[in-house]
Amino acid sequence: MPWREQLIQQHRNRVTAKIWRERQATQNAVGRELIVKGKTYLNFCSNDYLGLANHPALSTAAIETTRERGTGSAASHLICGHQEIHQELENKLAAFVGAEKAMVFSTGYMANLSVPQTFLERGDLVLQDRLNHASLIDAGRFCEANLKRYRHLDSGHAQTILLKSNANKKLLTTDGVFSMDGDQAPLHELTKICRQTETLLLVDDAHGFGVLGKTGAGSLEQHEIRVGNGVLMLGTLGKAAGSFGAFIAGDAVYIDSLIQHARSYIYTTALPPSIAAATLAAIEIFQSEPERREKLNSNIEYFRQAIDNLHLNALDSKTAIQPILLGDSETALRATKLLQQQGLWITAIRPPTVPTGTARIRITISSEHRQSDLDQLIEALSSDAMRTLTETAQ
Ligand SMILES: Cc1ncc(COP(=O)(O)O)c(C=O)c1O
Repeated sequence: MPWREQLIQQHRNRVTAKIWRERQATQNAVGRELIVKGKTYLNFCSNDYLGLANHPALSTAAIETTRERGTGSAASHLICGHQEIHQELENKLAAFVGAEKAMVFSTGYMANLSVPQTFLERGDLVLQDRLNHASLIDAGRFCEANLKRYRHLDSGHAQTILLKSNANKKLLTTDGVFSMDGDQAPLHELTKICRQTETLLLVDDAHGFGVLGKTGAGSLEQHEIRVGNGVLMLGTLGKAAGSFGAFIAGDAVYIDSLIQHARSYIYTTALPPSIAAATLAAIEIFQSEPERREKLNSNIEYFRQAIDNLHLNALDSKTAIQPILLGDSETALRATKLLQQQGLWITAIRPPTVPTGTARIRITISSEHRQSDLDQLIEALSSDAMRTLTETAQ
């Protein structure tokens, strides 16, 4: 069949299976509300957990830095794109998460790709939680090592695989907070097992950085585990930090290896200086305004108490990510439409992003939500129509 016909057929199949993906162009600045096609909705699906993506301190830092230094960094870090402001950001990130050294990447996806590729060779092992983020899974697929997965959160299963393995070098990677489930990795157990089996541990804390732990340094801080000594931390800067990019932190010897070998770092243009400036401003807010985290936590608690009483198929999550399981893709799409009609914007998450039969709506909570916003959401979730949809899934 010619290319064009094949593609049209593939598209038809996706539409029939209710997994056709569509983008919606929003018409306002990021915030608790979202405007699509002229209609305003409450936004319950962004990762802007602390309301920083449109914060004046970040915008001002970005604008001033653009005026001083221009828009582009004009080269990769190892040519001449590494500016003083990138270095300042790396130093600040390292100090903030308590690591010897940190380096910034253009995206979290690229940061994840870099680790197995840098540290592992053919015959080595990369072991992953089955529900890790796609960028970690891709990192495992794209490197030369063997990729294995353990059952979700099952540290015993991970241990069995590691003890059986005779790979020369082993890497275990896990989300800190699982991006589509909201639950958290058993970091104490995993750290212990990794030390016992001389396995390098990479914690992707895209959804923990800025919000978890006493100072907002993330899941490792929350578990009182030091970043270093065989533990690498990845944080993304486009979520709670309201900016863009990512970083990896750990002992200097590991970060130096990444600078030498990470292809997704070496062969790409450095982040614009304005983005580095905005991120610096975000870290200052993490430090000076703990009340944002407190507000986020009280919003999560408020929502969680209400949802527990509704007996919907809510996943067991204590974080800002609060998914409700609906089963098949069509039901998830119908739930999304239903909520949209009530002025709420919440996306359906369908296979292949999540396993078949576990389509869901993924609610995310922010410190910017008011109690009345949460009440509106809870009321919509309590409607008879919504209950009928979730009962079908049970
Ligand atoms: C757990 C996790 N890791 C990595 C990424 C990728 O980060 P970025 O958007 O900076 O590429 C994301 C989301 O985008 C994520 O949810």
